[in-house]
Amino acid sequence: MNETALILRPLNDACDASALKSLYTESTGPGLSFLTNFLTQPTCHAWSLWREDVVVGAVWFQRVEDAAEILDLCVLASCRRRGYGRQLLEASLQALAPVTRVDLEVRASNEAALGLYSALGFCETGRRPHYYVTQGGREDAILMTWTP
Ligand SMILES: CC(C)(COP(=O)(O)OP(=O)(O)OC[C@H]1O[C@@H](n2cnc3c(N)ncnc32)[C@H](O)[C@@H]1OP(=O)(O)O)[C@@H](O)C(=O)NCCC(=O)NCCS
Repeated sequence: MNETALILRPLNDACDASALKSLYTESTGPGLSFLTNFLTQPTCHAWSLWREDVVVGAVWFQRVEDAAEILDLCVLASCRRRGYGRQLLEASLQALAPVTRVDLEVRASNEAALGLYSALGFCETGRRPHYYVTQGGREDAILMTWTP
């Protein structure tokens, strides 16, 4: 963290996750209850990002041996485009280390996430056609991978 007011906190249990409701009011990804249940799995590694007493982001990984997958990444809607997503992802990748690869999938229409992941060095490795449901039909999932 290069901004002293930002703090990265590990998410360990449902009590920690209950502080994240403000992040997940309009989520199109996995819901907070699904993610909270996932915290009981030993493969789950998750962190929240705080600016003083306000939670501004959260990231959730599944790690099996030295390979990890991002299950979700979310920045508070009112705080986007201030560099929090980048700092949260960079700090959590460091905290997750050592890993040999990190995979994810993202909606093809999600320009913000695609921009962030590309900026951090994730590369497109494939597509799942018509994978996600949208209001108007379906859209592709883009698969991306990061290696240290
Ligand atoms: C994706 C998300 C986490 C980005 O968080 P953020 O804090 O706004 O991102 P940052 O401010 O750290 O942006 C870092 C870089 O990502 C890219 N980026 C971020 N938002 C972008 C946007 N709306 N359009 C295009 N590029 C964008 C840019 O390259 C940006 O660098 P720059 O500001 O120097 O140009 C946030 O938009 C979000 O929570 N979206 C809803 C949940 C979601 O879609 N999660 C991803 C699931 S796969």
